[in-house]
Amino acid sequence: MKSSAIAHSNIALIKYWGNWSKVSPSLNIPLNDSVSMTKYGLSENSHLQTHTTIEFSEDFKADEAILNNYLLKGRDMERVLKIINPLKKLKKIDYKFKLMSFNDFPTQAGLASSAAGFAALTIATANALNLDLTKEELSTFARLGSGSAARSIHGGFVYWHQGISHETSFAEKICNPNDFDINAIIAVISEGKKDVTSDTGHKLANTSIFNEIRVKKSQEQAKEIKAAILDDDFKKVGMIAEKNCLLMHSTMMTSEPALFYWSPITLKVIKKVLHIRKSENSDCFFTIDAGPNVHCLCRPEIIDYIKNTVENIEGVNKTILVKPADDSYLTNEHLF
Ligand code: PMV
Repeated sequence: MKSSAIAHSNIALIKYWGNWSKVSPSLNIPLNDSVSMTKYGLSENSHLQTHTTIEFSEDFKADEAILNNYLLKGRDMERVLKIINPLKKLKKIDYKFKLMSFNDFPTQAGLASSAAGFAALTIATANALNLDLTKEELSTFARLGSGSAARSIHGGFVYWHQGISHETSFAEKICNPNDFDINAIIAVISEGKKDVTSDTGHKLANTSIFNEIRVKKSQEQAKEIKAAILDDDFKKVGMIAEKNCLLMHSTMMTSEPALFYWSPITLKVIKKVLHIRKSENSDCFFTIDAGPNVHCLCRPEIIDYIKNTVENIEGVNKTILVKPADDSYLTNEHLF
């Protein structure tokens, strides 16, 4: 009962921020639909992916989970169990497990490592337990680890339906990676762990007076951006993504306590992107998750130009080029 999987992280084009209070917050049922691009890192040694192996056995005396050579404990282990326990229940077995996982990119630094991690964990666990689940069903279990992981089950462009229950809050694919021509350059400003985890941030969303309007607008924008992706309308996708990102960060900055994920360099990159668009007439847009790093979205034709421009901004430590990723998958390469 051993299985391995590889999953990619994703960048939200329409953001998930805050959980619906009418159901248990531990289910991670969001306040609004969200949309993302699953991303594949083009650097030789960083594809922004997680590789996970899990084994269940009657002979194991205790559960053990290792991420990037560190034994998981406390809250981190609890999140792993939030996925594994319901899957074990579905299979009606109570074996202990051994889990090993590697991220090929910084963990908890606003690069969506948890999305890749929990998606890989879900796929590997379901397969090790020989459960025959659809991708949509897998996405409901990945969501229990971290909401955005629901979207990383699929490759390409993904729509996460808010839903009203565990079963109805799932992600589905909008289209394949090659169906919409887009690249991103990530301006990496910090690779350190964020001060406030998104887990904590979600709980503060409703303390902002802007959240209600953000939720309402996000519902409209999710539908609009899906149509724009299917129409291959890059400008429209970029404009909507940028507006939605600013709605989320306005909500963060006006919550109590206020959350500032940006650094002064984040603002420099934003201004540069706006300058490129206005003065150079090149289509480039920004989006930012819960961290200081900026994703600059562009068509593949101008990726080298945008990369060079962003790299020259003082304070940007490095850039990572990404393209839309394929689906997450099972692999025979086991980590132990
Ligand atoms: O999945 P979480 O709990 O890490 O939350 C993700 C929150 C954002 O990255 C800011 C937005 C999103 O939709 O991915």
